[in-house]
Amino acid sequence: MQIAVIGAGYVGLVSGACFAEFGIEVCLVDTDASKIEALKAGRMPIYEPGLDKLVADNAREKRLRFTTELATAVNGVDAVFLAVGTPTRRGDGHADLSYVFAAAEQVARAAKGPLVLVTKSTVPVGTGRRIKQLVREARPDLDIAVASNPEFLREGAAIGDFMRPDRVVVGVEEGETGERAAEVLRRLYRPLYLIERPVMVVGLETAEIIKYAANAFLAMKISFINEVADLCEKAGAHVQDVARGIGLDGRIGRKFLHAGPGYGGSCFPKDTLAFARTGQDLGAPLQLVEATIDINDRRKKAMADRVIAACGGSVAGKTVAVLGLTFKPETDDMRDAPSLDILPRLIEAGATVRAFDPEGMSHARQILPEGIHYAKGALDAAKDADALVVLTEWNEFRALAPQRLAEAMRGKVLVDLRNLYEPKLMREAGFEYSSVGRP
Ligand code: UDX
Repeated sequence: MQIAVIGAGYVGLVSGACFAEFGIEVCLVDTDASKIEALKAGRMPIYEPGLDKLVADNAREKRLRFTTELATAVNGVDAVFLAVGTPTRRGDGHADLSYVFAAAEQVARAAKGPLVLVTKSTVPVGTGRRIKQLVREARPDLDIAVASNPEFLREGAAIGDFMRPDRVVVGVEEGETGERAAEVLRRLYRPLYLIERPVMVVGLETAEIIKYAANAFLAMKISFINEVADLCEKAGAHVQDVARGIGLDGRIGRKFLHAGPGYGGSCFPKDTLAFARTGQDLGAPLQLVEATIDINDRRKKAMADRVIAACGGSVAGKTVAVLGLTFKPETDDMRDAPSLDILPRLIEAGATVRAFDPEGMSHARQILPEGIHYAKGALDAAKDADALVVLTEWNEFRALAPQRLAEAMRGKVLVDLRNLYEPKLMREAGFEYSSVGRP
């Protein structure tokens, strides 16, 4: 089988490389010529564990190609996947669909025969129908089937998530056209049947809602446990034990109950906002999602105040070391990371910030305010600092010896916003240690 993937961003690149690994011939298309050249030369535009090898192996086997020429790429393929960005539209919080529609129209105009046009980008419910109308108008002579196949890839674990997903969701139109599309997608995902992963075929609108509902539910779990963590702090309870105590109930589940500085990344903040807007527009407000967004926004801001309080009420003239800048470990992604709220507030309050992140520093330099000192490593960041804040749970921070950290610092304040360390050990090492939701 042959497919084209439009958009060599995070989702397009990972999905394209993984489909190639399934044995499918994949052509990845992007308008950014420098990105395509880099990929041809084996340089990855993003950091994702295992991706460089997967791309190199499949490019060598000629199953994975890269081009800027959309028209040639879609010629003769069974399916075209749209994996272009859907950023938040400025002003109203809706998803900006202009890239999706432009790509769909170009595919329709270039198509030489029937194909399945599959949306992988996260799009609000109703978008599939709009794409159908658009391609029908562009090519009344061709039967282009429209399908939705949302991704559930976690950054840092995306290849594993694609190869061994909990489920694959496929949304198709009614009737024969929909059946044809479902058949093509089932064939593309055939290797997953062998490992007994469910491939669900549902209606277009249902698939579109599943994607947003999944992300909103996970975000809601995080905001829930973050509020419970605050309560635990007031009541002298232990949030990790509470999370375990509720999570062992199979109806709740243990995952996504880690309290922290609030969720970030390229999906949850954007998708919860767009989902809430859709609810308002369709007259079915999603109040739990709205509360989730509000709790998270306030939480990220409150984290700077927590650091300031731990420093005795002021950080003016003090040096604060920050470990971790990306929104989570194993990625260089800074999008909506808690560090973007916390660091500017600390600087405004008069702190000198020394920061370190294993992968995120070059992105951080571009978007964080000037004046931050970027350190060479965790111990270098901690050197002569009055306080140390852990913002992202990179493994290498877990492994730091408390004594060495304490010796490197001038002060002894340690604010662990990811509950990385054992409070007792940190206090024994001389730290004034605080974490999230633990006595
Ligand atoms: C998420 C979804 O998991 C994925 O299915 C979807 O397709 C894209 O969005 P991703 O953004 O890569 O993936 O990261 P994820 O691991 O889900 O974490 C998102 C945010 O939630 C991070 O900021 C993380 O630190 C935070 N988080 C996660 C918590 O604060 N607590 C948790 O228990 C879990």
